[in-house]
Formats: sequence, C-alpha cells, structure tokens
Amino acid sequence: MNILAVESSCDETSCAIVTDGRTVRSNIVASQIEEHRLYGGVVPEIASRRHAECISQVCSQALSAAELEFSDIDGIAVTYAPGLIGALLTGLNFAKGLSMSLSKPLIAVHHLRGHIAANYIATPSLAPPFLCLVVSGGHSHIIEVLSHTEFKIVGKTLDDAAGEAFDKVARVLGMPYPGGVFLDKAAVNGNIDAYPLPRPKLHDNDYDFSFSGLKTAVINLAHNLKQKGESLDINDMAASFTEAVVDILSTKAVRAAEDLSYNKLVCAGGVIANSHLRKRLDMLCSKKNIELVVPPLELCGDNAAMIASQGYFEYLAGNICDLSLNAYPSLPIDANVFNL
Ligand code: KG4
Ligand code: ZN
Repeated sequence: MNILAVESSCDETSCAIVTDGRTVRSNIVASQIEEHRLYGGVVPEIASRRHAECISQVCSQALSAAELEFSDIDGIAVTYAPGLIGALLTGLNFAKGLSMSLSKPLIAVHHLRGHIAANYIATPSLAPPFLCLVVSGGHSHIIEVLSHTEFKIVGKTLDDAAGEAFDKVARVLGMPYPGGVFLDKAAVNGNIDAYPLPRPKLHDNDYDFSFSGLKTAVINLAHNLKQKGESLDINDMAASFTEAVVDILSTKAVRAAEDLSYNKLVCAGGVIANSHLRKRLDMLCSKKNIELVVPPLELCGDNAAMIASQGYFEYLAGNICDLSLNAYPSLPIDANVFNL
C-alpha cells in the first residue's frame, strides 16, 4: 500500500511516499530554516506562507523521485496536530484536496506518533510494545507504545521541552537558530565540569522532566560573568549544559524502562540526533541489557516519511477521516481523532 504523506507542522514542508509503512520511496523536505534564522526563531506567519508557496512542488517532487503517479497512491496521510496552527492548516487543506480529487482515504497523523514511526522505517523488525523517549523542539515525553495506535504517557516535561532549552541556551551563547546542532558540536571540545549546573527532577520518583530551571541557570551564569567583565567559554558551557540534559534524559528513560519492565528503549524526535545523548543512552542500555533503538539522523528531524509510516498503521486500525478533519495546535499523543 502506497501512502503519500504531507508534513507542515513547523518550518519544514515535506511530502513522502512510503510503501507498507516501512519502505521509503521518496522523502522530500523543503526547509525554511534559513529565513527564520534571520529572526532567531520560527515566525508562524512566514511559515504558513512558505508552506503554501511550495507544497504543490514538494508533492510533485515526491511523486517523481518515487517514479510513481497519483494513480499509484492508495491513501493520503497528513499531520493534523500538534504544531503551528496556520502551518498545519496549509498542509491539511492540501491533503484534503488530494484525498477528494483522487478519491483516496484521508488519514490523520499525530506528529509525535510520526516521530516514533520513523523507527519502523529504520528498524523494520520493530513492533510494539516498547518504551519510547520522544524529545523534540516542542515535547519531551516518556511513552509506553502499547500498539501502533495506542499510547500511554508515563512522563513529560512540566515546562520547557529539551529542544527548546537547547535552542534558548544556544541563542544566549550567540549561535544561530536552531541551536541544538551547534551546541552538539561545540560540546565536543568543552569540559563537562567547567560550569556547575542543576539537574532538576533527576532524583524524583517519577518520569517527568523540567528544563526551565537549567536553562535559566545558564542564562544567569552568562549574565553574571558578563557583568563582572569575565569571559564565558562557549565550548565549556555547551559541554556542561549538554551533560546536564543528557544526564537527565538518559537516566530517567532507562530507569523508566527498568521499572516498567521493558527490555527495549526506542527513541524519537529532533533532539535524539544529539551525539552525546546517543552515546550515553547506548552506554547505559548495554549496561542494563536493554535494547536501544534510535532512528538514523535523517529521520530524527521533521519529515513526511515518518508521517506516511504512521499513516499506514492508522489506516490498518481503521482510522480514516472525512473532510471535516480539523488541525489542533496542541493535542496529547493518546487523543482519539474521532472524539475531538
Ligand atoms: O523533532 P524536531 O525536528 O521538531 C519538532 O517536532 O519540534 O526537533 C527540533 C529540535 C530543535 O530544538 C533542535 O535544536 C533540536 O531538535 N536538535 C538538536 C540536535 N539536532 C536537532 N538538539 C540537540 N542536538 C542536536 N544534534
Ligand atoms: Zn517534530
């Protein structure tokens, strides 16, 4: 079954075609990052406009790269939540148009379910149940993936997402948006013990996270040094901050897997591209005999292949929508599209 998927929840316009949820025929991603970088973050109105301008072309490219025609497509999957509302609506309306004109089923996909599904592409033998650490620009969750379409949140951030904290700290250190990848590189050359930073909630008896205090600690340290006329070592701060985030995420995710008796920890989302986090998870999981599954770097960030993969499993579960489908800026992963 060939699913054509549309992803436009933030600043990437993407269309992809995936066969049977696992074989990527094409995955075209048009990034707007360069333009948003001028403003230090995503400007929602610009994002919607750019999606509207390029989505048809991105879709045509996805078809030609897959060497397929519209007549080969069996279903249209689309990200309907969560994300920037104008951006989501642009992709949703395009997908509705395709579904109507081709008379093919419309399948609503939750963005985070898509991030998790990136792993079904990269590791075709993977099947639920498993525990999943989802860390993106907007979310930090520990989730029990009970089946391809059933999820239970066991922990989440109480304030900032990990990616948000990476981007804000990077900004304070003068790095371009989105700063996660720049911090990753700078941290390689820094000393993790140079700046003492808190690890909020690390030892709490739950699986929730909190990153805003850590972020504020970095900002305060940077300001205090500046006031005293002392210089801040960017690599050392990148390393110290990254070490704190890595400590928190890896310790709590592995602890959750042990407590909940999962022998498999699957990871997803843009932040899982972080080289230090991947290394630490690998080390902790092999120590505890937990199988670690991480997507390849090209499937960590936003892309439509992951939406097409999840779309296939939603289709198999009978989750087919009609043209009244709406977009939602925030929506929990376990929400049922038919009860909204
Ligand atoms: O999943 P994603 O592409 O978009 C959302 O759904 O939010 O995640 C984007 C986030 C950004 O905050 C970005 O800085 C972060 O992922 N990110 C990283 C790295 N690459 C991307 N954070 C840390 N280290 C990286 N290498
Ligand atoms: Zn994402």
